[in-house]
Amino acid sequence: MAILKIARMGHPVLIRRAETVADPTAPEIRRLAADMMETMEDAPGVGLAAPQVHESLRLFVFRVPDGRREQDPEDTPLGNSVLINPEVELLTEERVLRWEGCLSIPGLRAAVPRAPRIRYAGFDLDGNRVERIVGGFHAGVVQHEYDHLDGILYPMRMSDFRLFGFTEELTRAAGAA
Ligand code: NI
Repeated sequence: MAILKIARMGHPVLIRRAETVADPTAPEIRRLAADMMETMEDAPGVGLAAPQVHESLRLFVFRVPDGRREQDPEDTPLGNSVLINPEVELLTEERVLRWEGCLSIPGLRAAVPRAPRIRYAGFDLDGNRVERIVGGFHAGVVQHEYDHLDGILYPMRMSDFRLFGFTEELTRAAGAA
């Protein structure tokens, strides 16, 4: 296992559409996913997409920690997971603002409009198809990571740039309020 170098915003790999994974069960895909999980835990983060580690492939790793879940019965906890060649379907017209950060945009956070409920599908490392309907934090993480596979970074989704700032300043401001 290895901790991989994370591409930061401005690197071309982050704004290109990633390639379909030809064989989700290939040993090099398993190795990449294991290294991505280690890199995500080390950061620490809750999600990491292959383009963020300079691999233009349609896969990401993520987790839904219990403490980060919202009060939504469909916001289910999940340990470290891999999703290969994913599809995402937004189940509502409604969008809610959710605070997000990104390991490729260190030190910053923003409120980003996201669908509160989604259906997603994809493959795991054994080639099994995974399909889930989720809400809350879980839905937000998957939308953020999926966007990376299409070369979309969260600032490209923002609707209110006043809700964008350095984590340190936002935390200080919230504490003072
Ligand atoms: Ni990100």
